[in-house]
Amino acid sequence: MGGKTCIVTGATSGIGKVTALELARRGATVVLICRNGQKGEAVAREIEGQTRSNATDLFVADLSSLQQVHAAAAQFNRKYERLHVLVNNAGATFPERAESVDGIEMSLAVNHLAPFLLTSLLLDRLNATDGARVVNVNSDAHEHGTIDFDDLQMRRNYGRGVGMRAYGNAKLANLLTLYELARRLHGTRVTANALHPGYVATGIVTLKGATGAWRLLKPFWGIAMRLILTPEQGARTSIHLACSQRVAGVSGRYFEKCAPVASSPASYDRKLQMRMWEVSEQLTGG
Ligand SMILES: NC(=O)c1ccc[n+]([C@@H]2O[C@H](COP(=O)([O-])OP(=O)(O)OC[C@H]3O[C@@H](n4cnc5c(N)ncnc54)[C@H](OP(=O)(O)O)[C@@H]3O)[C@@H](O)[C@H]2O)c1
Repeated sequence: MGGKTCIVTGATSGIGKVTALELARRGATVVLICRNGQKGEAVAREIEGQTRSNATDLFVADLSSLQQVHAAAAQFNRKYERLHVLVNNAGATFPERAESVDGIEMSLAVNHLAPFLLTSLLLDRLNATDGARVVNVNSDAHEHGTIDFDDLQMRRNYGRGVGMRAYGNAKLANLLTLYELARRLHGTRVTANALHPGYVATGIVTLKGATGAWRLLKPFWGIAMRLILTPEQGARTSIHLACSQRVAGVSGRYFEKCAPVASSPASYDRKLQMRMWEVSEQLTGG
């Protein structure tokens, strides 16, 4: 990866932090897009310490804000000519329905519209780069997702628990547009793939604000976290899609354990993909 420039969003913890570290270890310059400047600085220092390099660049942006996504992309476009790998990794769950500064339901804003908009704003740099790759960290939660264009923002029925319904819907929305993107990029030098990292012991699901049956899991949460994948194991497929020669030229696929697998039947619905793309453009002001 020497001489290559990569972006990893949400690099302050979990899968994103390991992905950024590994890309830097392999010689890439890694732009960390993080919402918390202090955490971002600490991670950048840690990566540079571990890789004995000055290979990180920190951009601070809360990706739930469309304006901040624009600002981060503009900052990158001013500074860099090429973008070899864009890892759209940042993600979050929201136990209670909340809205972003733009009035968009938070799960949709962070898990779908942010990566959708960031990718489109960086397309010129990706297109200018030989063998550029878009890697979207999705989730098998998309399998339970549904798209209701009459209530995309889940005003009517957000659901209880830890916000899994909204999370699954947003991940499905993102997978639909990733497939549409791959089709639009066909014949170019840019590939676009998505992945499920497995169940990984990170802070993505917190039981702090959990309601309903999820609250009952609290006593067992610590044990469950020790039984599932470590962030290092969880980052393997992201790193594979970012770096491996085995996936050079492969596009429009969904991966798990570093191998292509089928995503949900709904995710392959061509009409849904196109409509989701159009609606996402409208919601992001495109
Ligand atoms: N863990 C799993 O089992 C699992 C399973 C399937 C898919 N995934 C996916 O894997 C990806 C990484 O998650 P993780 O498990 O590593 O969780 P994590 O440790 O909670 O990391 C999430 C990252 O996203 C960042 N982030 C959240 N909201 C943001 C915002 N508004 N603006 C900018 N950055 C934001 C977080 O920043 P802060 O540090 O500031 O909070 C953090 O760096 C996510 O896309 C998630 O959906 C995870």
